[in-house]
Amino acid sequence: MIYYDIEKKEDGIWLAQREYQPRFHLKTESVFAQCNGYFGVRGAGGLPSLNGKRGMFVAGLFNCAYEDEVTELVNCPDVTEFRLILDGEEICPDRIMIKGYERKFNIYTGELVISVRFELKSGTEIEVIERRFASMENRHLFVQSIRISVCRGAGTSGKLISGIDGQQTNSGVSHFQKINCRVYDRKIMQMKGYLTEDTLSILAESSCESGTPVFTLKRRSVEASYDVTVPEGGSWEFEKYVYIHKQEDMAELDRQKEILKDCISKGYASVISAHKEKMSKLWQQAAIRIKGATLEEEASIAFAQYHLIGMMPWGSSSSSIAAKGLTGEGYKGHVFWDTEIFVLPFFLYNFPEAARQLLEFRYKGLDGAREKAAAYGYEGAMYPWEAAVSGKEETPLYAALNIYTGKANKVWSGIKEHHVTADIVYAVWQYYSMTGDDRFMEKFGYEIIFEAASFWVSRAEWDEVRKAYVIRDIIGPDEYTEHIDNNAYSNYMARYCVSLAASLAGKAEKVTPGLYHRLKVGKRRKSWEEFSEKIYLPEPNEQQIIPQDDTFLTKKCLTDIEKYKESEVKQAVLQDYSRDEIVDMQVLKQADTVMLLNLFPQMFSPEVVRKNVLYYESRTIHDSSLSYCAHAQACAAIGAMDLAWKFFEKCMVIDLDGNPNDTTDGIHAASLGGIWTCIVFGFAGVNYEGEVLHLTPRLPEHWEEIHFHIKVRGKDIELTLSNTKVCLKDTGAGRTPPAKESPLKVEVGGEVYELKDSLQVFIIERKEGKSA
Ligand code: BGC
Repeated sequence: MIYYDIEKKEDGIWLAQREYQPRFHLKTESVFAQCNGYFGVRGAGGLPSLNGKRGMFVAGLFNCAYEDEVTELVNCPDVTEFRLILDGEEICPDRIMIKGYERKFNIYTGELVISVRFELKSGTEIEVIERRFASMENRHLFVQSIRISVCRGAGTSGKLISGIDGQQTNSGVSHFQKINCRVYDRKIMQMKGYLTEDTLSILAESSCESGTPVFTLKRRSVEASYDVTVPEGGSWEFEKYVYIHKQEDMAELDRQKEILKDCISKGYASVISAHKEKMSKLWQQAAIRIKGATLEEEASIAFAQYHLIGMMPWGSSSSSIAAKGLTGEGYKGHVFWDTEIFVLPFFLYNFPEAARQLLEFRYKGLDGAREKAAAYGYEGAMYPWEAAVSGKEETPLYAALNIYTGKANKVWSGIKEHHVTADIVYAVWQYYSMTGDDRFMEKFGYEIIFEAASFWVSRAEWDEVRKAYVIRDIIGPDEYTEHIDNNAYSNYMARYCVSLAASLAGKAEKVTPGLYHRLKVGKRRKSWEEFSEKIYLPEPNEQQIIPQDDTFLTKKCLTDIEKYKESEVKQAVLQDYSRDEIVDMQVLKQADTVMLLNLFPQMFSPEVVRKNVLYYESRTIHDSSLSYCAHAQACAAIGAMDLAWKFFEKCMVIDLDGNPNDTTDGIHAASLGGIWTCIVFGFAGVNYEGEVLHLTPRLPEHWEEIHFHIKVRGKDIELTLSNTKVCLKDTGAGRTPPAKESPLKVEVGGEVYELKDSLQVFIIERKEGKSA
């Protein structure tokens, strides 16, 4: 259940919290964050409060503070907090008697509105309404407006103090070596923060009826104090415009000042309407409409998409998408396989140019990945398990308590979890298959694939007994099973990657001979071909179960697994068992072999897929947020609709439920991407393979119809699917068709059709008939 009240209004769906609940602050701040892909601001109320953690994160603004620390996404100076003193009384929601409270968030625009009603000691009743948004129209712009009204009693006066506070830290770690503040023209505040390799600049200008404020420079902060006078029955208004940028996008100061001046003259309503227009263009492409879905379902699906849109560094490939987007310090702002496997599909099918940028980011990390491979004695490029700005490994070495030693556990993922190097290749090839972007392949794609392939070849060892290449001592997606041999997911993905390289070598020789020679592809091809033929691939056993690794099926099961599956506390199993004990059990943290089946839905027979999904699910605790969406999609694919729905429901509220202890350090980006993949790949059954768009709709019982757009090979396709009918329309949007463009092939129920302008196929008990 969604924890917040849901309201559908003309301007979108609002999620509202109508009680002041400090213990929910950390969570709600992540959930209600304003993000436009350039920066994200946590939804902490502007009035000071005790429990929250303010945060502003600028995409790609990383820093490593000390030698033994890893590089992390910097929690930037705060621009949201304001102090309010009325009739000599300092207003702090934790200390006053609140008479009314509402914090609401528009899922379509990201606008946050916080209203607090309270009574002053003087008896006057006041309402403070704060609004804010991160502009999608000018992505350097953050806007806040405050209105103070006297609802009952005499007028009031006092001060409002607002500024730029550079005292923020990442859990106590201060990243800025130096912070310089100043004021321009007695109206504009500026803060420049110097990191080891980057500089952040924040410029803020405010407008209100009170004339020139009094500015004060303090240590690492600058603030302005405004006189506030609110007459009986009247109100006082304040607007603040903030221009945020990193060194690489540094605009001339005069230009920045002009932008702020222009905003001030236009005012909040006009500036937000330009933002809404931009957002609505994105929604035109991305919206999923579901006939039969409840308001709660509609809200959680749109919520996921708002955050997906807000986490994309639109127009730049210098950074990628972090596991928590731009909403919190969790996972230190690092980029995982989550991006390529869970999040990228949303962009690939809606905004392919954004998917391309995410992959270009990985291209830029190739040198770091090459260094990592070399450091471990491998060839080619071995991508980091956790990345920041480069291809350098950023995974912390220690985390989480070992219940027996009392010390932190060693994190092996950065050393042994290697599948990310194949996951990126998978995403590269998905991108190429969907777009046919040859330029991308020539500039970036081939090189990523070839370097990854050479890594995998060098990573494997020859096993004389099996007469095959094997991959020993590895961690697959299931991080509860460390140091195992021949993880099925990793071996199959490695084969996929290397055989792709082998099959592309010939084409690369023709289209990009320079690269072909520079990378010495000619010399490496043979090893790729041999590896592809001789890599050991765990086959289904007599019970048709694909062994997750060499020893997994011989291990004992965890008898009381249900207890952990149902636990509100994530990873509760680690409070009862050490990691070493868990490694010796058939217990999974998250989808592993099931992920393989999701990525390659046609690799095994339907019976094998069904048996494996059910077998592994029963042993999975779902202790990673990546697990519910993966299982929802997998269960939909095998037609286990009750289970699919059970997992989808959990996934829909992963950030929206009533557990105040989760989502506190940021939203779950992969799971939000997984909501989209589950609907499109799982329920709508979309699978583009072999230049054919396969459609196998399996809608949840109460959904009558799903409607959405996808981009396939430059075409904008509008799809409307139900369990009995599939309708497609080539909208022709965004392109001038080349003279000899071939129609899209569409497969429904085994029959292949051609989509010219539109197509309608009826599905009658799995027998299809074409009608138009
Ligand atoms: C999961 C990984 C995931 C990471 C970041 C971990 O708990 O096991 O698969 O990449 O979180 O979301």
